[in-house]
Amino acid sequence: MASDPARPRRTAADVTRMKGRGEKIVVLTAYDTPSARILDRAGVDILLVGDSLGMVVLGHETTLPVTLDDMLRHSAAVVRAKPGALVVADMPFLTFHTTPADAVRAAGRLVQEAGVDAVKLEGGERVRGEIEAILKAQIPVMGHLGLTPQSVLRMGGYRVQGRGANAEDVLLADAKLLESLGCFAMVLEGIPWGVAQRLSEAVSIPTIGIGAGPRCDGQVLVFHDFLGLHEGLRPKFVRRYADLAGQIESATRAFASDVREGRFPSLDESYE
Ligand code: KIV
Repeated sequence: MASDPARPRRTAADVTRMKGRGEKIVVLTAYDTPSARILDRAGVDILLVGDSLGMVVLGHETTLPVTLDDMLRHSAAVVRAKPGALVVADMPFLTFHTTPADAVRAAGRLVQEAGVDAVKLEGGERVRGEIEAILKAQIPVMGHLGLTPQSVLRMGGYRVQGRGANAEDVLLADAKLLESLGCFAMVLEGIPWGVAQRLSEAVSIPTIGIGAGPRCDGQVLVFHDFLGLHEGLRPKFVRRYADLAGQIESATRAFASDVREGRFPSLDESYE
């Protein structure tokens, strides 16, 4: 889909090159057209249609119930914003855990039907074959290591990963694997900042941190978290840049009181 000619659509290769130039990469999640337009206007580099969708938009407790149909609908909505940012869609649970062929079919649908530029999938060595197959289909892949939310049942909760020499070495090996397979970037989530720094220095592709400290090559936050729209537990790494929940609540109270007191609509806001 054509993007604004004033801001040509970024490619996955453009994002990889940003690391070489020492440019920090700005990533936010987006799930619908109007918010994607606003984020894009503000100049983000990547709009990530995360499967966090399940928790912040659809009201699930985890990302596990998110389906490929959910991701297709919301990814297409973000692409309809015609952003200059690269649009990356998460591959939801069970779309790449069976066979490489299933993984290619799911990634292919996200590209063909929703129009995304790249897909993201969680895991390193355990999804090597799936990443290889998707890349063979010429679809750019972003990796995701550390606290991988689709592993919540196995991890026994959302816990910081990569603590201890062995866990750190496994992460390092996975990061190098993603680089060698040809991923264009990787998310590092929920790991100590020193480990994230070591990984970022060890690979030539960009690392995008979330709860991984300041030494990554870019940062990502979830839309509802950074704008103060998600009212659940707030992890330490979430910085709130606005209190939209508070603003929406006061606007709603003002509207309700205007309706109840007969102040809305005025005659000026009515047709003759
Ligand atoms: O689903 C998501 O939004 C993500 C980001 C938090 C990286 O995977």
